[in-house]
Amino acid sequence: MTGPIGVFDSGYGGLTILKEIRDLMPEYDYVYLGDNARAPYGTRSFEVVYEFTLQAVRCLFDMGCPLVILGCNTASAKALRSIQQRDLPLMDDTRRVLGVIRPTAECVGEISRTRHVGVFATPGTIRSNTYNLEIAKLWPDIVVTGVACPMWVSLVENNEFASPGADYFVKKRIDELLVADPHIDTVILGCTHYPLLIEKIRYYMPEGITIISQGQYVASSLKDYLRRHEDMRSRIGQGGSLRLFTTEQPEQFEECAAIFLEHSVEATRLSLT
Ligand code: DGL
Repeated sequence: MTGPIGVFDSGYGGLTILKEIRDLMPEYDYVYLGDNARAPYGTRSFEVVYEFTLQAVRCLFDMGCPLVILGCNTASAKALRSIQQRDLPLMDDTRRVLGVIRPTAECVGEISRTRHVGVFATPGTIRSNTYNLEIAKLWPDIVVTGVACPMWVSLVENNEFASPGADYFVKKRIDELLVADPHIDTVILGCTHYPLLIEKIRYYMPEGITIISQGQYVASSLKDYLRRHEDMRSRIGQGGSLRLFTTEQPEQFEECAAIFLEHSVEATRLSLT
């Protein structure tokens, strides 16, 4: 029996990860689940993000996914470890749940020359300190400065990412980061919603600073993982299909998802409990 790769996010952000994964590996079957009804997660407590993420993982397992990618930094920071260590052995130890922070942390060491790296992320991800810890394990010489961007996800979820109002919030956080550490030469967009703001981020970011949008790194890391784990690869369906699910109104999701994926889509509503 084969099943699709599941990709989960609190809302639309994980679509930036899904797009890169599908561009690199179009042969596999995919299921996307966005918990739009309860987004954003970034301002929620550890317990709530964990509970919601576990519900989503269970739901994707019920749909037959042998492998689930948390296409959400907040869920990766707050729920991944508990799910991997505590829940997976009780649910089904042959399935896997992977996150987006580790592959992103892996790539920065090859990119930064000044060894000063900035991270923009949700308040939850910044408070968890996960980027600092993961980067320190791999690249102990790198200094990491994180800045929480509480408004950025809302700008994206409400389709205001290209509006003039977004400029104020983008510039404000870039200024804050560069005051905190003027030596930064590399900035991680540590939230999967943020690539939608990339044009404005590029506009306000001084030249010479590399902006890391994590989708491509997550995709190539997943490809490498599947190459190393033939047992998992053989359990993934290879029909090139995509099904999309949201916990909110499908019409609204379809409209916004088409912007992220750059083609029209159909979505189905479901509830998570
Ligand atoms: N896209 C998610 C992330 O990468 C979080 C957005 C949210 O706050 O729900 O962190």
